[in-house]
Amino acid sequence: MAKLLELQLQNFRNLKPYKLTFGPRLNLIVGDNAAGKTSVIEAVWTLSSGRSFRTAKPQHLIQQDTSELTLFARVEQQHQTHAIGLSRSDEKVLIKVDGESIQTQAELASKLPVQLLTPESHRLLEEGPKARRHYLDWGCFHQSQSFINAWRHYQRALKQRNHGLKTKLPKEQIQLWSPQLIETAAEVDRIRQDYVEALTPYLAEFCQALMPELKMIPECHFRTGWPKSAGTFAQALESNFQKDFQQGHTQYGCHRADIKFRFDGQDALIKLSRGQQKLFVCALLLAQASLYEKTANEAVIMLIDDLPAELDAHHRKTLLKLLQALDIQHILTSTDQSLIPLLDAENSKIWQLEKGQFTEILQD
Ligand SMILES: Nc1ncnc2c1ncn2[C@@H]1O[C@H](COP(=O)(O)OP(=O)(O)O)[C@@H](O)[C@H]1O
Ligand SMILES: [Mg+2]
Repeated sequence: MAKLLELQLQNFRNLKPYKLTFGPRLNLIVGDNAAGKTSVIEAVWTLSSGRSFRTAKPQHLIQQDTSELTLFARVEQQHQTHAIGLSRSDEKVLIKVDGESIQTQAELASKLPVQLLTPESHRLLEEGPKARRHYLDWGCFHQSQSFINAWRHYQRALKQRNHGLKTKLPKEQIQLWSPQLIETAAEVDRIRQDYVEALTPYLAEFCQALMPELKMIPECHFRTGWPKSAGTFAQALESNFQKDFQQGHTQYGCHRADIKFRFDGQDALIKLSRGQQKLFVCALLLAQASLYEKTANEAVIMLIDDLPAELDAHHRKTLLKLLQALDIQHILTSTDQSLIPLLDAENSKIWQLEKGQFTEILQD
């Protein structure tokens, strides 16, 4: 089980220097708007990925009027404890795992695997396929060791083909990339389809737990990225060649895949109320975390920012109960003080956050 034991913050956003010692289950940080709640979630995310989910400009993370931020975490994984440290100034970033500098983001993510649920996660339903592909591929990446390689080779072949199309090379030359593109697409496609199939029962289970009143089962429809009517990917590439050539890029392929969520044959956005959509997105991420736990035999840490916004009291309670019952560590933020009495004192830790200042709330 991956568990975040401790997080030390220094000069990160508006947060005052503090050491959070987390519990193995539910950790709740409550505070008003602008207290710094999202910043805490962002700090953990930054340690897990090397970057923020809120800004492309890392210097925004450094506290005003200071020159360097540092984050330090102790993580328990497979009965071993690891230390992760990150410091960032305007000029440079330094990331160390167990005292050794590391080079790649993948190394970091494997030390501190997290799953993020924020109010923006709603774009999984609302926006175009990009966010859903990202969701899907997070799962595929962890599900199958060959995914990342297949995906990289696919992208390389696609880039070459697009370059050929753009610079108007002769067809025979552009087609030289087809075998690699087709072969890697088949692999990516197979892993994605398997993943969706494996995920669906988990999703149904979490939907049922969070919304027992919903008498419908979610359906996941995977779309390969080329029309069914076009036949195989090889046939789609061939029949669309002229159009691709005119437009200077490859229209169809794995880079266009999508996954649709339906209830009773209709899109989740149509069939579910706004509050139910929030819970559905939550179910999507919990399903992914649970499946990950099963396949990797390792738990992700769920980071949940501002979750109960827009949920009625009854569903908030159901959700909290479910979170507490799962053997996953959660770091949850909320503006809602009334959640505190709902928590089971044995399995939870709570902090009050005011203008960047933490105070632990001890429960009796
Ligand atoms: N680099 C920074 N230095 C100091 N304060 C910052 C920095 N970046 C953001 N803030 C401030 O931190 C506060 C907390 O933001 P946030 O974490 O989004 O709070 P919450 O999620 O609790 O609403 C905001 O008032 C914001 O203006
Ligand atoms: Mg916030």
